[in-house]
Amino acid sequence: MDETRKHWDEVYRSNAEAEVSWFQEHPERSLAMIEAMAHERSTSIIDVGGGASRIVDELLIAGYVDVTVLDVSEAALGRSKTRLGPRAANVKWIVADIANWSPDRTWGVWHDRAVFHFLTDATSQKAYIEALERATAPGAAVIIATFALDGPERCSGLPVQRYSPDTLAARLGPRFHLVGQQVETHLTPKGAQQRFQFSLLKRA
Ligand SMILES: C[S@@+](CC[C@H](N)C(=O)[O-])C[C@H]1O[C@@H](n2cnc3c(N)ncnc32)[C@H](O)[C@@H]1O
Repeated sequence: MDETRKHWDEVYRSNAEAEVSWFQEHPERSLAMIEAMAHERSTSIIDVGGGASRIVDELLIAGYVDVTVLDVSEAALGRSKTRLGPRAANVKWIVADIANWSPDRTWGVWHDRAVFHFLTDATSQKAYIEALERATAPGAAVIIATFALDGPERCSGLPVQRYSPDTLAARLGPRFHLVGQQVETHLTPKGAQQRFQFSLLKRA
């Protein structure tokens, strides 16, 4: 956790919000996919590796009342808390390494944009999948966005594992059924194009 945390804290402390390559002013695709799976505003949602993403703002505006953001970087979550002001009190915040975390409850929707792909070794991938299994009940929706097979090989100075929806589903194992998929070409603040795949899976 220490090296991972140090890396990401440094990234968030040394870059302005809109300077990081993954910045999105309006995470529209994530919001649309979450809303499609969470009609009831009481549906619990966790944004895994949410960093300083504005998806939490959008979820609160949309009326969701049980929203959790987890990230290894306290600096990242601090940035979101500052941006939200008093509304931050309506969110549960968890500082944890997803590859070394024991959830104490389940969520109806698990959302991860650009986090699982940083886990490039089998041990940490297995730990993520175990956390995912423990944090979701049968019927839960799982949305995982990673760099696509034709996406970048690195992000934030780190190597990534690229996926198609099929290779991602195969990696997650038989408890997760692929029920939807989308591709997105993300435009970074510096104007580079990055191909993402967004997979929608259902927990069996
Ligand atoms: C590329 S950023 C994406 C942030 C956010 N999901 C978004 O779409 O804006 C990756 C995020 O994953 C977090 N992260 C990286 N490794 C992690 C780990 N092992 N456990 C939890 N969070 C992690 C980083 O701190 C960072 O906020």
